[in-house]
Amino acid sequence: RASPLTDTFGRHHTYLRISLTERCNLRCEYCMPAEGVPLQPKSQLLTTEEVLRLARIFVEQGVRKIRLTGGEPTVRRDIVDIVAHLKALPQLENVGITTNGLVLTRLLLPLQRAGLDSLNISLDTLRKERFEQITRRKGWERVIAGIDLAIQLGYRPKVNCVLMRNFNEDEICDFVEFTRERPVDVRFIEYMPFSGNKWQTERLISFKETVQIIRQRWPEFQALANGPNDTSKAYAVPGFAGQLGFITSMTEHFCGTCNRLRLTADGNIKVCLFGNKEFSLRDAMRSEGSTEQQLVELIGAAVQRKKRQHAGMLNLSQMENRPMILIGG
Ligand code: GTP
Ligand code: 5AD
Ligand code: SF4
Repeated sequence: RASPLTDTFGRHHTYLRISLTERCNLRCEYCMPAEGVPLQPKSQLLTTEEVLRLARIFVEQGVRKIRLTGGEPTVRRDIVDIVAHLKALPQLENVGITTNGLVLTRLLLPLQRAGLDSLNISLDTLRKERFEQITRRKGWERVIAGIDLAIQLGYRPKVNCVLMRNFNEDEICDFVEFTRERPVDVRFIEYMPFSGNKWQTERLISFKETVQIIRQRWPEFQALANGPNDTSKAYAVPGFAGQLGFITSMTEHFCGTCNRLRLTADGNIKVCLFGNKEFSLRDAMRSEGSTEQQLVELIGAAVQRKKRQHAGMLNLSQMENRPMILIGG
């Protein structure tokens, strides 16, 4: 019998993104509605035991990589513990986090000791004042220090930069410059629509446009090979320590090679970033007499309903979805 993690288009899902919290210590406008999101009571969110139980089931079914997201995953007090427990699953090959980097100077060493394999850090601007504008909080220096610490500790962090017109388009070349001496992969992300984030087509800066801007300054800017399930198209300026990448969700989707599933902090399986059809694994797990087999069947049924690809740029902008902060990317 085919794996419950293989969908009707033959895509096998070996990568699970687990959101650990709905809270964040920043307030980025492209990620959450200005008025914030109503906080669910803690009782609605998965306990650490439940997270680990589901993770184990997914790994038994074939997941080989888990990424912890949020909200901001480092605001969950027991994140180090969670990483350590995940790393104890022998079949799991990679445990990563996606973080805003604010507290890495305090937390990265413990996370590394717990076995953290990789980290992606969100940073949309190299200018302190702009950081405070977009995030509505202070902390730019701490994020930069976090990136530098990650490098010191032997990581090759990915730096995620969401490009938005009239906000940071004038920093594209500065971000390329950022990779000259630093072994990091800066990835430019096309701005995506989520509930409450005021997305507009005009604010989207496309992959092609960005490459053109970079080529004016570095004509030798070149494409590199990609992994089979990469979200990003890799590029580099020859001779630079780091690389660039483009996450082209809006103008050239990569749904054909998608291998991702998501688990929300309140325990829903979400089979597509842009799919609002979710199933509660939490409720199944908490109902009396539920068995492992029933959970596996529920997961399989959700995977079977995954669509071939997302609905296309303009449809997405009108679609009901969660706000990004409640998905985790
Ligand atoms: P790796 O695990 O290192 O490959 O990173 P990643 O790109 O999968 O994850 P990250 O959390 O760094 O996300 C970077 C951007 O990619 C965010 O804007 C995500 O929303 C987007 N992204 C991640 N996974 C998917 C996906 O399955 N589909 C789409 N369309 N975008 C995704
Ligand atoms: N469009 C594209 N990327 C986004 N992210 C958050 N909101 C959006 C959006 N509207 C990014 C964050 C983080 C990653 C998980 O998703 O910057 O790096
Ligand atoms: Fe996968 Fe959905 Fe992202 Fe497409 S939009 S790559 S199907 S998660």
